[in-house]
Amino acid sequence: MAVKWFSEAGVEVVTLTVDVGQGADEAELRERAVAAGASRHVHVDARREFVERFVWPAVRANALYEGKYPLSSALSRPLIVEKLVEVAREVGADAVAHGCTAKGNDQVRFDLTAAALAPELKVLAPVRVWSWTREEEVRYAEERGIPVPRAHRRYSIDQNLWGRSVEGSELEDPWTGPSPEAFEWTVDPERAPDEPLEITLGFEGGVPTSLNGEEMAPEDLVTRLNELAGAHGVGRIDHVESRVVGFKSREVYECPAAVTILEAHLDLEKLVLTKEELRFKSLADGEWTRLVYEGLWASPLRESLEEFIASLDRPVSGEVRLRLYKGSVAVVGRRAERQSYSLEVASYDEGWYPTDEQARGFISAWGLPTWLARGARG
Ligand code: ARG
Repeated sequence: MAVKWFSEAGVEVVTLTVDVGQGADEAELRERAVAAGASRHVHVDARREFVERFVWPAVRANALYEGKYPLSSALSRPLIVEKLVEVAREVGADAVAHGCTAKGNDQVRFDLTAAALAPELKVLAPVRVWSWTREEEVRYAEERGIPVPRAHRRYSIDQNLWGRSVEGSELEDPWTGPSPEAFEWTVDPERAPDEPLEITLGFEGGVPTSLNGEEMAPEDLVTRLNELAGAHGVGRIDHVESRVVGFKSREVYECPAAVTILEAHLDLEKLVLTKEELRFKSLADGEWTRLVYEGLWASPLRESLEEFIASLDRPVSGEVRLRLYKGSVAVVGRRAERQSYSLEVASYDEGWYPTDEQARGFISAWGLPTWLARGARG
């Protein structure tokens, strides 16, 4: 639509689509862009790069914004901006444009990151200028013969390998349950198979590298897991979240692979890392997650935190067994090459057992500050 609008205004437009696993049909997009007046269309398959440079750091950081949202949309924005800037420089454009409204987080992520990477480029946001309702947008498209897919008439949808975000329509009332039409990647847990599915995820340095013992390319692993977990109704998230622009919104997500991988990753970390590492890491994780959600991917702190998090996650290599069953994912087993857990030490049956005297010694040192503060000793 924006392409049409610009070309009607006599502006030369080069369009770009970045494939981050949204299920984009390159030929169809090219056709749409040219029909709307684009002089050239560029398509970049960035799925591998998206997973390796954006999704994997999010896995290491156990990234769940406000405890629930795996950042799927947020993670794709800086990569899209990088590609946009590359193409803009290549064709000698003096401005870049995106289709965000004035109400969302994505405009912040696009504008801010573009200005950080390419201060010489102007950022245009036609939808912010129009300030149309969804209905008005659909009407504009229809009048000009631009096809709008059915689901997109009702909802605002954004998709990539890490998840599917759905908002608008009945979802705007936080009390109203989502209509079955909101979901495409997950089956209704009630209709999921009666037989649970057990899978094994292999991790190296804090990121998954194999599924059921088979080494897989990052984008293939995530795609496959979206299918497997989605078929068992895993990954539906219904969330009221605090936007960076100051107000709350209700969004429904489908993130089957993300929910499964994050569950497995955190579990493996607990087996491998020390209590001190886990505690401190959760602070770094939370800050990394917040910066990414709030559009500050380009900030130096995000980079430093990411390096720190990756260094902690270096020994997080091993396997996690998970059970997918009617909308739930549960870890049922884990093992690692280097782990902080010791069966010999933990077992009630045999192995190491402190004497009564050792136990008393530990407890009196541990309890001393509390006893002193309460006047129970001293
Ligand atoms: N609320 C999410 C975020 O800010 C998703 C944004 C895109 N969602 C959408 N339905 N268009 O990251």
